[in-house]
Amino acid sequence: MSMAACRSRHALWLLSAVLASLVAGSTAGVYHIVGAGKGWRMPPNKTYYEDWASSRNISIGDKLMFLYRSGVYNIVEVPSRELFDACSMRNVTNRYQRGPTIIELTEPGMRYYFCGVGEHCEVGQKLAIYVCAVAPPPPDEPSAVAAVALISPAGLAACLVAALLIMAL
Ligand SMILES: *[C@@H]1O[C@H](CO)[C@@H](O)[C@H](O)[C@H]1NC(C)=O
Ligand SMILES: *[C@@H]1O[C@H](CO)[C@@H](O)[C@H](O)[C@H]1NC(C)=O
Ligand SMILES: *[C@@H]1O[C@H](CO)[C@@H](O)[C@H](O)[C@H]1NC(C)=O
Repeated sequence: MSMAACRSRHALWLLSAVLASLVAGSTAGVYHIVGAGKGWRMPPNKTYYEDWASSRNISIGDKLMFLYRSGVYNIVEVPSRELFDACSMRNVTNRYQRGPTIIELTEPGMRYYFCGVGEHCEVGQKLAIYVCAVAPPPPDEPSAVAAVALISPAGLAACLVAALLIMAL
């Protein structure tokens, strides 16, 4: 199977899983504990936070909770994949150093975070996430609830497929 075919199969699988999960309930305004039980620290392997992120559906209005000890770890945000890949603090757009830190996600798109202490980023204490823009409900519709139920899953699913393709690059 070609790479593209494989990806689109994966995307289709993802799409149906998203639609199925959305029938069970909305995921708006969720708190995501970064790294789950490990919190924000030097991970057991380089893909630990990447694996964590790929198992989450993150959208606007959600919050990232970074649990860490102040002075031992911190969080810097950088605006591009290039800086993130290089663990470069040449252009830091946000910096947090008093754990725990809660970051509310107010804009759609990619966000890049890593720990700026020592070589922590190099060993994998870094997190790239894709924030989905869930389609807003149409204003002043009498059937707004039904419309949300129909529109949001499609918007979210499309966004998640976009996320999958972007992260696979
Ligand atoms: C995220 O979406 C996937 C489908 O892509 C679903 O299987 C999973 O349960 C969702 N995870 C969460 C935490 O909502
Ligand atoms: C990384 O560590 C986590 C937690 O110990 C583990 O579940 C995962 O399989 C590991 N991944 C690799 C690529 O070793
Ligand atoms: C730093 O990043 C911001 C946000 O992307 C950008 O507007 C700015 O031009 C960058 N500055 C430098 C010096 O690269």
